[in-house]
Amino acid sequence: MSAKAKPARKHQDLDVFARVFRVFADTPWLHYGLWLPDERPTMPTVRQAQERYVDKLLALLPPAPARILDIGGGTGAMSERLAGMGYSVEMLTPSEVQVQMARETLGDRVTVHLTRLQDFTSESRFDVCLFSESFQYVPLDESLPKVAGLLADGGRVVISDCFRSAGFPGGRAVGGGHRFTDFEAAVERHNYQIVTDEDVTTMAAPTIALDRQIYREVLSPLIADGGSMLKERKPWAHWLVGRAWKWFVSPRERQRIAERLEAEYRTPEKFLENNTYRFITLKPR
Ligand SMILES: C[S@@+](CC[C@H](N)C(=O)[O-])C[C@H]1O[C@@H](n2cnc3c(N)ncnc32)[C@H](O)[C@@H]1O
Repeated sequence: MSAKAKPARKHQDLDVFARVFRVFADTPWLHYGLWLPDERPTMPTVRQAQERYVDKLLALLPPAPARILDIGGGTGAMSERLAGMGYSVEMLTPSEVQVQMARETLGDRVTVHLTRLQDFTSESRFDVCLFSESFQYVPLDESLPKVAGLLADGGRVVISDCFRSAGFPGGRAVGGGHRFTDFEAAVERHNYQIVTDEDVTTMAAPTIALDRQIYREVLSPLIADGGSMLKERKPWAHWLVGRAWKWFVSPRERQRIAERLEAEYRTPEKFLENNTYRFITLKPR
């Protein structure tokens, strides 16, 4: 592995989720859950739904011992699962927080690289380049050619991720990812073929109810209560924090954070309107 000088983009929101989920939901996963029609999304049940996602992903892999590159491996939970099943695994993520968590979990069983996919180089070749909800973070014209060079003969790219559906009008909306039509065009452009493609959007959508709860029912009241407490006990500190908020955070960013905490637009219904969640296997043509 070598990482070029370009600094990795930070994804602190994912690092916060990694800590919150690990402590409050006893889950190491950072991806969506897949929910059955009668299940209610809650913190205690999220892991069960996420394990359903993992099972679906594992079903797309060739049998062990195959060589797997876990791209955007988060806290290392997938690499740990794969290594335990007898796969030969390497993992990468650009987050220092996640690398530290992953190295604690994995010890010397898996090599963990601190790098973006775009900057990753290796002599190794892999039977599977795996993107478990990490495909959306890398531009299509960077990810697809990059993994083509990392695949062994007969290798596959396995992707589980959120995409924007054809009807997405643009602007701020819950969910995310590449436009699915852009993805299909990039698959053609970079000489891949779609081998399998399963749409699990309705199973993934209830995860948004949980996300909404975290923002509206936990973070938002915590900030409001913390602010009132500070105002009452240390009015000068409250004044100072208020000033600093206005001086150092741009109006646009303040607006973005306020909307995020309000989470009006973060509903499962909105998710269904604008997104398509897929489990996909690609092979080079
Ligand atoms: C939603 S998390 C998914 C984590 C894990 N794969 C899972 O299923 O729980 C997205 C992951 O992609 C990583 N990521 C973001 N940008 C990346 C990039 N340019 N190259 C590689 N990984 C990236 C994040 O740091 C994080 O580990």
